[in-house]
Amino acid sequence: MIRRSCQLSILGCVVASALFVTVWPSSTGAEQNQSVSFARSIAPIFRERCLRCHGAEKQESGLRLDRRKDALAGGDRGPLVVPKDSAMSLLIKVVTGHNDEELFMPPVDGALTKKQIELLRRWIDEGAIWPEENADISQ
Ligand code: HEC
Repeated sequence: MIRRSCQLSILGCVVASALFVTVWPSSTGAEQNQSVSFARSIAPIFRERCLRCHGAEKQESGLRLDRRKDALAGGDRGPLVVPKDSAMSLLIKVVTGHNDEELFMPPVDGALTKKQIELLRRWIDEGAIWPEENADISQ
């Protein structure tokens, strides 16, 4: 359709592309098109809601979330995430409470927000990339 209007007139082409770029991002939500930034969106969730029980001082259930290597290795129940498969990932099972053991994380101060859970899901589905430069997020 865009190509056809280009043939008709240059003006048509300009209008069509202007429409495309203005309408497209707002209809899908600009954020949806960007991949989740671990440093900006994921580390703050761990830092604010998880590290007091899964950090340097305490490692409940053998899980430590402040260091990349330990976090991805997981705790007593095994790996924290299955990259690209959020539904199978322990991390999502515990923050949604969808698990047979009725684990619910964090167990204090209320659940994560829908938006935070959605970010965790997207982060995992995009491959659960934890950059080396964020190997330690305790600070
Ligand atoms: C107030 C302390 C506390 C906070 C805060 C907390 N947890 Fe936990 N977490 C626990 C305890 C206690 C267990 C062990 C529960 C059990 O085995 O019955 C646990 C277990 C887990 C497990 C299972 C690990 C395994 O392999 O056995 C995961 C995954 C987990 N927590 C993730 C999180 C995440 C993600 C957050 C932050 C969103 C979080 N937790 C915040 C106390 C906490």
